[in-house]
Amino acid sequence: MTKLSDKTIWITGASSGIGEQLTYQLASKGNRLILSARREAELERVKSNCPESAQKNIHVLPLDLSDLDSLDNAAAKALKIHGNIDVLVNNGGISQRSLVSETSFEVDQRLINVNFLSAVKLTKLVLPSMIQKNGGHILVTSSLTGKFGTPFRSSYAASKHALHGFFEALNAEVWDKNIYTTIFCGGYIKTDISINAVTGDGSAQNKMDANQAKGKTAASAAAIMIKAVERNKREVYFGGKEVMGVYLKRLFPGLLAKMLRKMKINEQK
Ligand SMILES: NC(=O)c1ccc[n+]([C@@H]2O[C@H](COP(=O)([O-])OP(=O)(O)OC[C@H]3O[C@@H](n4cnc5c(N)ncnc54)[C@H](OP(=O)(O)O)[C@@H]3O)[C@@H](O)[C@H]2O)c1
Repeated sequence: MTKLSDKTIWITGASSGIGEQLTYQLASKGNRLILSARREAELERVKSNCPESAQKNIHVLPLDLSDLDSLDNAAAKALKIHGNIDVLVNNGGISQRSLVSETSFEVDQRLINVNFLSAVKLTKLVLPSMIQKNGGHILVTSSLTGKFGTPFRSSYAASKHALHGFFEALNAEVWDKNIYTTIFCGGYIKTDISINAVTGDGSAQNKMDANQAKGKTAASAAAIMIKAVERNKREVYFGGKEVMGVYLKRLFPGLLAKMLRKMKINEQK
């Protein structure tokens, strides 16, 4: 059990949604935080919403996860702030709402870069210092779509599936160095994710999906993520009845495939 207090924690995607709620909960537990995303003003807003006593321990570090070459510099800065990172939270990401046949390849690449390759790169940049310190934790925000592909989310699902392969391999490599990974698979959570989701030409969908609007709160997702890290869970599922998809895929994959086909028809109406 690793108590998440008095730790240096770098959170990507901290400017809204799940990352914002993680920030509030981790700040109130007495951690030193580094907040990253593209929108600096939003990161400052999140910081200013934290208790005044916690704000001196919160640094804002803007970055763009789609610009993979810029991440070396960002990680060097993050490591310099407190001399190490105890917990890296690879949370920043974008979703997708478009059919394969209507999605440009550039959009596929963007989803893979932002959701997968940026997490790979940041992890590789931070890992040597964790190995040297003989300890660390990497929390990754995947999705139930990381366990089974659903219509309109082809490359989103691919990017999240890829996270599982990479971080399961890493987990098996570094457990004996006191370094752990936790993959959080969320269902419908009420954040701006569907509003910001990219369509086939790369433009934002700009509307909240009904399922997201009815989803779990970002605060409850953040609380589950923190508990999962503290208990060294390798993987955790969170959401409503959509979580059943994980078990259906395991036990009745044919049935799940039929249900997903129906889902496509419903969403096209
Ligand atoms: N909400 C759900 O139902 C749900 C379910 C499962 C998994 N997830 C995952 O949860 C994570 C957080 O999403 P959310 O639901 O909290 O949605 P959100 O409110 O839209 O937050 C997404 C975060 O990612 C950041 N981000 C996006 N593109 C970025 C880029 N190119 N560079 C740097 N930061 C970037 C955004 O900040 P800026 O715009 O300021 O850059 C924002 O802070 C994502 O990985 C998402 O796939 C969400």
